[in-house]
Amino acid sequence: MSVPDIKDIVSQIRKKTAFKPQIGIVLGSGLGGLADEVTSAEHIYYSELEGFPRSTVEGHKGEFIFGYLGEAAVVLMNGRVHYYEGYSMQQVVAPVRVMAALGADRIILTNAAGGLNVSYSPGTLMCIRDQITSFVPSPLVGPNDESFGPRFPEMSKVYDAELMRLLHETADEEGIPLVDGVYLQITGPAYETPAESSLYAQWGADAVGMSTACEAVALRHMGVRLLGLSCITDMAINNENTVTTHEQVQKIANEASKKLISLVKGTVLKASKL
Ligand code: HPA
Repeated sequence: MSVPDIKDIVSQIRKKTAFKPQIGIVLGSGLGGLADEVTSAEHIYYSELEGFPRSTVEGHKGEFIFGYLGEAAVVLMNGRVHYYEGYSMQQVVAPVRVMAALGADRIILTNAAGGLNVSYSPGTLMCIRDQITSFVPSPLVGPNDESFGPRFPEMSKVYDAELMRLLHETADEEGIPLVDGVYLQITGPAYETPAESSLYAQWGADAVGMSTACEAVALRHMGVRLLGLSCITDMAINNENTVTTHEQVQKIANEASKKLISLVKGTVLKASKL
C-alpha cells in the first residue's frame, strides 16, 4: 500500500456526507462505548474508502462516526491502525489527518498504556502532558506537503494547555482522579522487558504504549490543538513477576470505560465552546 492520498480520501468522504466536525476523537481501548452516545450518527466504514488502512487487531473496529455529543459536532475514529500491523507511519496517521482535513481543529487522542511511574496502578487515568517518540519512525519522513504544515514543525507544546485545563476541570467536577504524565511510544507488538521499562522510566516517561504519539506529531504538523488521555491498564515497571496480556489490557480498559467516557464527553462539551 502506498502513501495514502489524504485529499482523495476526504473527497470520497465528502461524496457520502457533508458533516462538518469541530472536534475529532480517537477511541482507544475502553472508549468504544462513547460511540453509542453520538446522536444523528452517520457511519462510514474504513472498508468503504479506497486506499484507506484497516485494523487487523482484535478489539479494534474500523469506522468513522459523524454526529453530535450534546451540541458538539464530532467525528469519532472507532478503531485505529498501528505500526506493528505492518503499515507505514504515513498510513498509520492517515485516519487522523483525514479528521483534521474534514475540519476538526481540536482532536482528543486516547489509548491504553503500561504504567512506568511507580505511583500509578491499573485503572489510573493519565492526561498526556508531553511525549517521547524517539523509538518510532516519524510520520513526517519523506516529501513535505506544505499545505499540511512546515518541513520542520516545532514540538514545544504538543498538547494544548487550554484543553488540558478543561479535562482537569471536568475530572474535578466529576470526582475522577486524573494524573499528568509523559507518554512514550514503542513500535510493539511485544510488550517491553523489565530492562526497557526501567530505561524508559529513567528517561522521564510515565507511560508506554504502541500508538498516539505518531498521530500527535502528524496533527501538530497540521496545527491541530490536541488532548491526550491514557488509561493505564498494567504496570510496565517492576514487572518481573507479572505477565501483561492483551486480554488484561482490554479488561482493565473496559472497567475504566465509564470514567473515561464521562471525562471525554464532559471535556468535549466544554472544548466545543472554545
Ligand atoms: N506496553 C505497551 N503498550 C501497552 C501496554 C504496555 O504495557 N499496555 C497497554 N498498551
